[in-house]
This record gives sequence, structure tokens and C-alpha cells, in this order.
Amino acid sequence: MPKAIIIGATSGIGEALAKKMAQEGYELGLTGRRVEKLAVLQKALSTSVHIQKMDVTLFDEARQQLLDLIQKMDGVDVVVVNAGIGWVTTKWENEQAIINTNVTGFVAIANAAFHYFKTQPKGKGHIVGISSVAAVRGGGQIPSYHASKAFISSYMEGLRYKALKKGWDIAITDIRPGFVETPMTEQNDVMFWVATVDKAAQQILNATKRKSKTAYITKRWRLAAWLMRILPDAVYSKM
Ligand SMILES: NC(=O)c1ccc[n+]([C@@H]2O[C@H](COP(=O)([O-])OP(=O)(O)OC[C@H]3O[C@@H](n4cnc5c(N)ncnc54)[C@H](OP(=O)(O)O)[C@@H]3O)[C@@H](O)[C@H]2O)c1
Repeated sequence: MPKAIIIGATSGIGEALAKKMAQEGYELGLTGRRVEKLAVLQKALSTSVHIQKMDVTLFDEARQQLLDLIQKMDGVDVVVVNAGIGWVTTKWENEQAIINTNVTGFVAIANAAFHYFKTQPKGKGHIVGISSVAAVRGGGQIPSYHASKAFISSYMEGLRYKALKKGWDIAITDIRPGFVETPMTEQNDVMFWVATVDKAAQQILNATKRKSKTAYITKRWRLAAWLMRILPDAVYSKM
């Protein structure tokens, strides 16, 4: 039975992915700050579920909690780094929180998972990181969010090359959702091609099982990403 840990499983994409993985028989380790939500999920799922309160911005504590959780589960096959935040603002307090969570918090966990996997007998494991279509270009609505996702997509690409060079069997999957109906997007007034969280979670699980390098969620967002890259400044800057 495969074992997966989801960092940020208390709502939205993480919670929906936990439900999908439970249906497929994964043993799960679920984390988040709102531990009461994890307890509800633990009761509702028909698989073995371990829960751990975790704030990824308490970097060293979170890294130790991940290792303790892996030990409690007697190993893990997949670590999904999903925790993330975003607000449409450039207030410093908000930008700092975005960087702490989406960048440093992400790396704190992905780095701990990477080092854990490389010390396994066959250097084997899988890290799935939830980035965003926002990774492909700067965004005038929410600059730090786009930048944070560009950072983690680039970081994941680097981890993949590092594992390849060293001969470690560590797969890295960069998940890039477009718009998904979750508490994070509740306040957004302009959205299109919006996926239900259930559909998004199913496609993320499929990409995880295939060990895809990069997956756009939903698939048509690959086209939007391509357009975002090639549009001239004069057009893109007005969007
Ligand atoms: N929804 C979209 O349209 C969309 C599009 C592209 C990418 N994404 C990405 O998808 C991921 C999930 O977002 P979502 O839409 O599902 O939003 P969400 O419902 O708000 O879920 C965010 C999750 O991250 C966790 N989290 C936030 N800050 C954390 C912290 N400091 N420590 C630990 N966990 C933390 C939350 O748990 P607690 O609050 O309980 O800690 C929650 O489980 C994010 O990385 C987001 O950037 C979403």
C-alpha cells in the first residue's frame, strides 16, 4: 500500500487530494495548522491516517515534524507540498507572509523530503509540489505570489536535475493549477476556466501516479501558459 504525506491538507486542493488518495488505498499523513480540521478528515477517511499540526513558516520545527511523521508511518513514498497562500495586495506584511509560506516554507519541507529520500536504500522517493500557472510570468495583480511560484517551479526543476546527476531515483512533479474553486479563490472576482476542486484533485493524483515532470491543472491551462509566455508586454501588462 503506497504511503503519502500531504502538507496543507485542511482545505481546498490538499483536502480533496487526501480524499482521492484515501479512495485509492494510500496510507496518509496529513498536516496543517488547523488540526481540528485534520481530525475531522481522519475520522471521515476509510484508510490509515496520521495527522500532525504543522506551520511551515516555523521552518526548523516543521522539518522535524515531517521527519517524525515519516518515522511514525514507518516510511513514505510521496510527499505533496501543497501549503500556500496568496492575497491581491502588495502590502509588505502580506508579501512577507507569501514568501515565508510559499517559498521558504516550501523549500524547508521539500529539502527535508529530498534528503530523507536520498538516504533511503535505493535513494527512492517522489516529491509533488503545488506551484501554479502563475509561475510562468510575473503578475501585476499579485507580484509576490507569481514570483513565489516561479521560485518553487525552478527549485523543483533543479532538484530533478540534482537527483538525475547523482543517480537517485527521486521523482519530482511540478503541479501548475489554473483557477480552482477553493477557499483561496472565494474572493476572486475575475476567473475563467475554473475547475472544481474534485476534478483538480483527480488530475493531480493522475499526474502523481504517472510521475509527470510538469502537469497543468486542468490540462487546457498548458495553452494559457504558452500564451502568457509569448504575449508581448503591451498586451500582457493590460491583463
Ligand atoms: N485555488 C487555486 O485556484 C490555485 C491555483 C493555483 C495554485 N494553487 C495552489 O494550491 C495550493 C492549495 O491552495 P488552495 O486553493 O487549496 O487553498 P486553501 O484551501 O486556502 O488551502 C491552503 C492549504 O495550505 C495550508 N497552509 C497555508 N499556510 C500554511 C502554513 N503556514 N503552514 C502549514 N500549512 C499552511 C492550509 O492549512 P492551514 O490553514 O490549516 O494551515 C490549507 O490546508 C496553494 O499552494 C496554492 O497556491 C491554488
